[in-house]
Amino acid sequence: MKTVHVDTGKPYDIFIERGILDSCGEYVKKLSPAQKAVLVTDTNVAPHYQWRVLNSLTQQDIRVKTHIFQAGEESKHLGTISEIYKTLADFQMTRKDIIIALGGGVCGDMAGFAAATYLRGIDFIQLPTSLLAQVDSSVGGKTGVDLPQGKNLAGAFHQPIAVLIDPDTLKTLSDDFIADGMAEVIKYGCIKDSAFFEELEKGDALKRIDDVIETCVSIKRDVVSRDEREAGERMLLNFGHTLGHSIEKLSGFTGITHGMAVAIGMVLIAKAGEKHGITEPGTADRIAALCKTYCLPTETEYSFTELADAAMGDKKTAGGNINLVMLSKIGESLIRKTPLSELEDFITV
Ligand SMILES: NC(=O)c1ccc[n+]([C@@H]2O[C@H](COP(=O)([O-])OP(=O)(O)OC[C@H]3O[C@@H](n4cnc5c(N)ncnc54)[C@H](O)[C@@H]3O)[C@@H](O)[C@H]2O)c1
Ligand SMILES: [Zn+2]
Repeated sequence: MKTVHVDTGKPYDIFIERGILDSCGEYVKKLSPAQKAVLVTDTNVAPHYQWRVLNSLTQQDIRVKTHIFQAGEESKHLGTISEIYKTLADFQMTRKDIIIALGGGVCGDMAGFAAATYLRGIDFIQLPTSLLAQVDSSVGGKTGVDLPQGKNLAGAFHQPIAVLIDPDTLKTLSDDFIADGMAEVIKYGCIKDSAFFEELEKGDALKRIDDVIETCVSIKRDVVSRDEREAGERMLLNFGHTLGHSIEKLSGFTGITHGMAVAIGMVLIAKAGEKHGITEPGTADRIAALCKTYCLPTETEYSFTELADAAMGDKKTAGGNINLVMLSKIGESLIRKTPLSELEDFITV
């Protein structure tokens, strides 16, 4: 068992162990006074894992109701939250009871948001089942949903009372979503840990995935506990994400996954950094080679003009600055404030 302690306003532990899903009930019993639980999960994850979690909870005499939503980012909206509220209210959940999020980042973000807001806040536990959720979204307490105007626009900071990571669940995750999560794994090496980056370069991260998850959540824990509300350092976690978001936006959020877009975004911003003498020469090539090792793309057909325009959105004419996360070298990152009017020139190589 690997344990990572998170010292945010409300401290909690992340437990990493194969098979831990079957002990979920024991953790709830130990950490919470709950007599009832609502298990929130999606249509892909439920058939694989809901019974194990249900059995474990009922063995501890916890009454459970399951709420299953249609898998996918398209479900991450307020309509689904309303339906979750209905399940919570119909089941007469009290402030002592608990929500269990079993699934990827979409499930964790929504179940967490429901927990943050139902009765002005009840406890929840994260059981992340996608690689992205295990290394990134289940840690840090950001919860929320998308609005028609943009991604993650409504949300709350709400820390779980525990995160239980079962790396065995990755066996049923598709290769595309494994690659997707690997982009965030590579990101952690880039921004904080050159030795970890070198380990990843050996190409066998998936064989040592338990250690990889532990390293990633430890890095995220360190960053988040120093900057819980994203006033500064937490922004470093957005390395590759500014231009990554541009690519996602330009492609209409179809055909390219978040991780694929972030991989390209990391390479592009490293190239720009090299051009401006901010980033050590050769860094972009190393990131690109590593992304290719884990089946991630490194190039885009969109022009620098399109990428800059998409990053600026409707702030194009408003002036102001954009915070770009850059590397000085692998393992060391910084935030560079760049005037929006210079963004296109800045990224063009
Ligand atoms: N809160 C945060 O700090 C944070 C950070 C990064 C990303 N996010 C959010 O996370 C979301 C993306 O997360 P995601 O990639 O996990 O998406 P997701 O939850 O949609 O999961 C990806 C797909 O994999 C399926 N799946 C998950 N686990 C599985 C398993 N073990 N076996 C089989 N199928 C499985 C899901 O049903 C889904 O189809 C986005 O909405 C993003 O905004 C949040
Ligand atoms: Zn991301």
